[in-house]
Amino acid sequence: MHPDQPSLRWDGEAIVTLDQRALPHERRLLRLTTVDDVIAAITTLAVRGAPSIGLAGALGVVLSAYAHCSPGTGDTGWEAVRADARRLASARPTAVNLAWAVDRVLTKLTDGPDAVLAEATVMIDEDRSVNRQMVDHAVRAVLDRCPQRSLRILTHCNTGRLATAAVGTALGTILALAEAGKVTEVLVDETRPLLQGARLTAWELAEADVPHRVCVDSAAAAAMSQGLVDCVLVGADRITARGDVANKIGTYALAIAAAHHGIPFIVVAPESSWDRSLADGRDIVIEERDADEVTSYGGIRTTPLGTRAYNPAFDVTPASLISAIVSEHGVHSPSEVTA
Ligand code: MRU
Repeated sequence: MHPDQPSLRWDGEAIVTLDQRALPHERRLLRLTTVDDVIAAITTLAVRGAPSIGLAGALGVVLSAYAHCSPGTGDTGWEAVRADARRLASARPTAVNLAWAVDRVLTKLTDGPDAVLAEATVMIDEDRSVNRQMVDHAVRAVLDRCPQRSLRILTHCNTGRLATAAVGTALGTILALAEAGKVTEVLVDETRPLLQGARLTAWELAEADVPHRVCVDSAAAAAMSQGLVDCVLVGADRITARGDVANKIGTYALAIAAAHHGIPFIVVAPESSWDRSLADGRDIVIEERDADEVTSYGGIRTTPLGTRAYNPAFDVTPASLISAIVSEHGVHSPSEVTA
């Protein structure tokens, strides 16, 4: 898949996407033809990142609509699609974008499969323009808070084109800043346990020729104390009405360290990542993943047999630790976000 092509698209009959599990070693394309394929791709993180799983979920409903609805099937077909939609929406619980996107295409179900596909296509196009607007606002938010000529930016997980239909959120912002000659170096947390930073963000930065180094997650606070970080930029999976942010596990620790060192901590995420039905971040459902991700590495067990693991995929950063949350609508400082 070429850098200018979206990492997820509809080829007329199926979803075509880059298999993120194979990166950076192999550029393997996946062709998803059934709802079960889509659910497997989402749960195994072949497709990952909040906006991308939303779009995959929406296209999963398209597959279901073509499979179950032909003229005359009416209620029975619609019920089958709604059941598939419920399975798709619950494939991963934390990113609100998934349920949001599935619900949005479902509103077109009674108009037929072509209408469901048309809505999913609009959403992919929208994600592109939302990325652009968000990045413009975020670049301004960073430069307002970090007026120095050239920046050292720390980021976590992967929030680039692999996680969206276009340039990305936080990583899209970093690429735009780099293009404007404003980036000295990006420090990339490896992002244990699945290494989205080391495997995917480093891959995107190398592709764009942006200077970067990867560090273990636990080196981030030390890097801040040594003056190696001017700003932290991350994405989000769900943002509550008061601005608490769920994002990849480790984000909360970064925010605490950044606050301690007086370093701006900026979240870049689309409006579709907001869940205003929740006030408090403690109400966000956090996905717990398999112990194997922590108790072994590259298929080799690293812990004694029988050792159990605590493996939350996300954590919640309270609004009080966040300098700014940027969406396509502009820059909010958490104190302006109303509950
Ligand atoms: O488990 P993942 O890799 O899907 O987690 C992704 C993240 O936490 C991202 O930061 C978030 O989805 C924003 S992607 C633009």
